[in-house]
Amino acid sequence: MSLSSVIPHADLTTMNTLALPSQAAYFASVDSVAQLQETLKWWKSQRTSLPVMALGGGSNLVLAGDIQRLVIKVDIQGREEVQEDDQFVWLRIGAGENWHDLVRHCMDFHLWGLENLALIPGNVGAAPIQNIGAYGVELCELFAELTAVEISSGVSVTFDRDACHFGYRDSVFKQRLRDRYIITSVTLKLRKEADLCWHYPALQQYFAERETEPETPLDIFAAVCEVRRSKLPNPAEIANAGSFFKNPVISDAQYQQLQQRYPDMVAYPQAGGKVKLAAGWLIDQAGWRGRQQGAVGVHERQALVLTHDGCGTGADLLALADDIKSDIYERYGVELEIEPRVYLGRPNAAE
Ligand code: EPU
Repeated sequence: MSLSSVIPHADLTTMNTLALPSQAAYFASVDSVAQLQETLKWWKSQRTSLPVMALGGGSNLVLAGDIQRLVIKVDIQGREEVQEDDQFVWLRIGAGENWHDLVRHCMDFHLWGLENLALIPGNVGAAPIQNIGAYGVELCELFAELTAVEISSGVSVTFDRDACHFGYRDSVFKQRLRDRYIITSVTLKLRKEADLCWHYPALQQYFAERETEPETPLDIFAAVCEVRRSKLPNPAEIANAGSFFKNPVISDAQYQQLQQRYPDMVAYPQAGGKVKLAAGWLIDQAGWRGRQQGAVGVHERQALVLTHDGCGTGADLLALADDIKSDIYERYGVELEIEPRVYLGRPNAAE
């Protein structure tokens, strides 16, 4: 091994917001597409069987052990207006930019659309992978295109919105193209005229309590920041990866049965006669909110968020997740799916 930017045995504990102990077999940080391509070319020339894994802000990741891969941290910066018409501005952003810094930048320059997505942890390059969404808006609504480098060939490719197959917390990069590409930039189509979106219950409640209505996207931005800060733990203070489970989507028939037994159950009707349940409500009602299991636990204000006190392992966290999943299935017959990406590495021990 001789590419100076590739380091063996790198500690990833501070690079994942759950603060799970983990070592990467090899690690490199890249700040340009050319450097990424050079690293991939060199890795291929080593004829190793170890796969490559991309790392962004580490906020949607469960590292359950040591990672037998070349972990590439994407640190590509930059924001550039690439196109403009009388309604929209197309902004291309480097994958390594911090998501919330981007949202703030757009607020400062009156480029609207991201206000509901304030304070989501992580980097821009990870946003399309799970199609981040909050308070009634999903990334795909503002998405124009992305560029990504194919790991096997090093070729840079452009994906438009259709090619990304976006769904609820889902895209082609979590499915068919999982681990095949590294995203290097994202282009968003942002509005010059405001289009306020505040139908989401928590936002309606926020403005109702203050007997006011939002007048500009900046009011929504402030509301989202306040609501999130009141419910969701800051990963810099309490290690977590946001929502640990997806909100499950079930058939209307199953929902009708559940609703008879649990009239207060929180549910959102979906297209195609399906119903999305609030996993946080199910977990909360089952008595898990605030429960601690050794070094890991369920957050006291939002049952959908699992936390880690810094002294446990990914295995501890997955054991807690399994206990919650089994309990929810027994009680409600509903299968919960883990939302962050889980990497089952070689077993390790907490410090
Ligand atoms: N609820 C409870 N107890 C809880 C948590 C929630 O009863 O402990 C109830 C709430 O009262 C509410 C309902 O469940 O009636 C939904 O809760 P909330 O509005 O907080 O949203 P969520 O469904 O729990 C989703 C996203 C969040 C996003 C919020 C706001 C998923 C998996 N999670 O959470 O996304 O911020 O909506 O849009 O879709 C993330 O993905 O990391 C994330 C934080």
